[in-house]
Amino acid sequence: MASKKIVVLISGSGSNLQALIDAEQKGELGCGKITLVVSNKKNAYGLTRASNASIPTFVQTLKQYKDAGKTREDFDHDLAQHIERTEAPDLIVLAGWMHILSPAFIDMFRGRIINLHPALPGELDGAHAIDRAYEEFKEGKRLSTGVMVHYVIPEVDKGKPIMTQVIPCVEGDTLEDLENRIHAAEHQILPRAVKQVLAGSGQTQ
Ligand code: GRF
Repeated sequence: MASKKIVVLISGSGSNLQALIDAEQKGELGCGKITLVVSNKKNAYGLTRASNASIPTFVQTLKQYKDAGKTREDFDHDLAQHIERTEAPDLIVLAGWMHILSPAFIDMFRGRIINLHPALPGELDGAHAIDRAYEEFKEGKRLSTGVMVHYVIPEVDKGKPIMTQVIPCVEGDTLEDLENRIHAAEHQILPRAVKQVLAGSGQTQ
């Protein structure tokens, strides 16, 4: 079976990228093959993870664009063009990509971009979702939170869910305990969601 190209976008540690690399190496991504890792941060550790797995990397920082007097839309447009020209990917995975993409990017890949978010659909959209879930737990306002993989649309964290998992908040949890539980779940759910989408059995966006 011909392999399907996956481009992974990261901004930081890349532990979810690592989960995808490990899954691919174990044959758990179906026909998926990671052909490029993109970072908007020069020092993201995920770039090292990619190099260790002999996956090509590409770095484009917003600072380069701002310094040259260009806009976020220019950044998004050029990145989309670069990815489409060099890879024509079957799937783009936002795995800890901390940059809100404008329609200049998303329109080129509608239905081909998915995102991992550490919260359930309709809850805790946007940044710092784990911290906010923990605060609500401490205030007695929630007993659980979750993780999801969803299609990307211009409204942040609002695209159609592909896979979700509820994560309990446990009495006595520190923020770090909750973070660790969420990250462990993310590392399980993301490769499964990627495999499902590539197999064509995911819901459409
Ligand atoms: C994950 O918790 C992801 O859900 C969030 O950013 C974190 C990225 O972690 N959007 P890593 O870089 O994959 O380790």
